Amino acid sequence: MTEPHAPASASACALAPSSSADGCWQNLRLAPDMFEAGQAVGDGEDACIVVQQGRVAWVGPQQALPPAYASLPRHDGQGMLATPGLVDCHTHLVYGGERANEFAMRLDGASYEEVARAGGGIVSSVRATREASEDELFAQALPRLQQLLDEGVCAIEIKSGYGLALEHERKQLRVARRLGQTLGVTVRTTFLGAHALPPEYAGRSQDYIDLVAGTMLPALAAEGLVDAVDVFCERIAFSLAETEQVFQAARRLGLPVKLHAEQLSNMEGAALAARYGALSCDHIEHLSESGITAMRGAGSVAVLLPGAYYTLHDTHMPPIAGLRAAGVPMAVSTDHNPGTSPCLSLLLMANMACTLFRLTVPEALAGITRHAARALGLQDEHGLIAAGRPAHFVLWPVRHVAELAYWFGSKPDCTIVRQGRIVRTRRQGSH
Ligand code: NIG
Ligand code: FE
Repeated sequence: MTEPHAPASASACALAPSSSADGCWQNLRLAPDMFEAGQAVGDGEDACIVVQQGRVAWVGPQQALPPAYASLPRHDGQGMLATPGLVDCHTHLVYGGERANEFAMRLDGASYEEVARAGGGIVSSVRATREASEDELFAQALPRLQQLLDEGVCAIEIKSGYGLALEHERKQLRVARRLGQTLGVTVRTTFLGAHALPPEYAGRSQDYIDLVAGTMLPALAAEGLVDAVDVFCERIAFSLAETEQVFQAARRLGLPVKLHAEQLSNMEGAALAARYGALSCDHIEHLSESGITAMRGAGSVAVLLPGAYYTLHDTHMPPIAGLRAAGVPMAVSTDHNPGTSPCLSLLLMANMACTLFRLTVPEALAGITRHAARALGLQDEHGLIAAGRPAHFVLWPVRHVAELAYWFGSKPDCTIVRQGRIVRTRRQGSH
C-alpha cells in the first residue's frame, strides 16, 4: 500500500479542477449550531446559502430567500446536510520519512518515553527532515494534506519542529506556506523550534533555548513564516522556565502562543500558557483543576488529540468533565505526525473523541469547526456559516448530523466549497 504516503506529483493534487461557488445553493439542510441565519431555520427545513464573490451573502430558510437573490445561478444541494468547512488545528504535517518501526517497538512493550530516550522519537524524524530538500518535503506532505482536504478540511495548522536548526525549521515553514498557496487552503504556521533537544545540543538545553528564542524565532518571524509559537513542555522535552523564555520572545514579537501541555505528566504548563494568553493548550491528559481554571480565565481552547492518546495506548483521559463544567471550549484535531498520530482523517478524530473521551456529538463537531477555528485565532473567518464570511462549507450525504461522528473508516462522498470555489463535487446518485 503506497498510495497515501508515497510522494505524488504536485500537479496531481494542485491542478484539481475547481469552479466558482457563486450563486444560490438550494435544497440543503443546515447542521444545528453551525450557522448564523438572519431568520430561524427549523431542524431539517429546506435551506439555502447564497455565495457572492466568494463570500457567504445570505443563509436561511428557502422560503425566506430575499427576491434579490432569486435570479442568481443555482446549485442543487441534493438535500445534503451543510456544515462549515472543517478546521484541523494541530498538525505536524511536514516531515521527512515515517516511523513505523516505533509503532512495532511500542507493540513490543516500549513506551514513547523509552523510544525517545533511546534516540528514536522526534529526533529520528529530525534526521529525515534535515536530509530532505524543500521540494522533497513538499512532495511528501502534499498527498497527506490532500487526504485531509478531501474530507472537508478548509483550514489547517502546520507546525515546524522537525528541523531544530534555523535552515531546517525555515524549510518546514516555507513548505507549509507553499502547501496553502498550492492547494488553496488556509494554513496557519506555528513555530515549534522547542519540540525536542537536537542531538548536537545534548546536555546544553539552555544554549538551545537561547538559540530558539534569541535567533531562530526572530529570524523566521521577520521572514513572515510564523503565525504562532508552540513549545513541547514535558520532562522529555523542555521545562517550565525554558518554555517561558520562548513565550517571552513570542510576546516581544507580538505572536500568540500555544502549548503541548500535560501530555505525559502534569508540569503546570497550561497555567503558564494561560498567563501568556495562549490560544490553546493541547493534549492535556494530565491537566489539573488549577490548569482548567487558568485556561478558563485566559479564554484558551483545550485541544484534544485522541489519535496520540490511542497510538500511545494511553489510559489517562483528559479531564473532560472538568473542562465542560468550566465552559472551556474543546477542540479536536488529528495531531498528524509520524510518531504518535499518523492519522489523516479529522472525522475519525471526532469519532474517537466521542468513543474514547465521551464527548457528545455536538461537542465533537464544534471541536472540529468553531472551537478549532478559535484555537488558531481564525474565529472570524472559519468554523461557522454566516453572512460576510468567506465561503467554506461542506455538503454531506447524510440524514442525521450524528453520522459525521458515527461512521469510521469510510470517506464520505461530500461536496466541498473552499475559499469560494467548488473543489469537490459529490458523485451523482451516490447517496
Ligand atoms: O503532538 N508531543 C509532542 N509532539 C508530537 C509528537 C511528535 C513525534 O513523536 O514526532 C505530538 O504528539
Ligand atoms: Fe503535537
